[in-house]
Amino acid sequence: MINIGKKYLGIDIKKCKFLGEGCEGRVYLTPDGHALKIFKNKANCKAECNILKKVEGSKYFPKIIKANSRYILREYVDGNTLENYIIKNGLSKKLAINLIKLVEEFKKLNFKRLDMRGVHIFVQEDESVMVIDPRKTFTKKISGPVSMLKSLEKVGALDKFIKVLISERPDLAVKWIKAFAR
Ligand SMILES: Nc1ncnc2c1ncn2[C@@H]1O[C@H](COP(=O)(O)OP(=O)(O)O)[C@@H](O)[C@H]1O
Ligand SMILES: [Mg+2]
Repeated sequence: MINIGKKYLGIDIKKCKFLGEGCEGRVYLTPDGHALKIFKNKANCKAECNILKKVEGSKYFPKIIKANSRYILREYVDGNTLENYIIKNGLSKKLAINLIKLVEEFKKLNFKRLDMRGVHIFVQEDESVMVIDPRKTFTKKISGPVSMLKSLEKVGALDKFIKVLISERPDLAVKWIKAFAR
């Protein structure tokens, strides 16, 4: 349970706005415009901290501002989840290409898991994309963006995405369709 009135990394939780929660913790928007994630579990906090440190410098991930064993203060990511964004705005060629580049970035960063759940991909107004909650990226082996493609399928954008993928990167299309169909 969150102890209301307590300070986290010097931040007064009463002055923060609740952003959301997942299975690992709760996330708040601080008065300075950062995202404070309070973990239930120290091991999860350490694992996420390690990943965010390894990807430091990549434009696709929020930078860590401060952290300790239970809390991470990081950049706030604006925008909408992939599925909600597409439901509202559809999938443009530009967004499809940005998603392809995102997975290519995972490869450059030496991720074993070349995938990201749609709920953890945020799309900003200019259609650039960012990852909010990277997990098991260096440990779980996934050879193609299966859950990302599932999200696209769920919102009726898979055909359009595959068309763009085939025209831009036929080499990846073969691999990703194979991973998806498995
Ligand atoms: N950096 C961020 N910027 C904006 N919102 C965020 C950020 N990190 C998390 N959130 C919000 O908080 C929710 C829970 O965060 P998340 O990191 O996914 O928690 P968990 O690890 O428990 O799944 C997200 O679904 C999102 O709405
Ligand atoms: Mg999450």
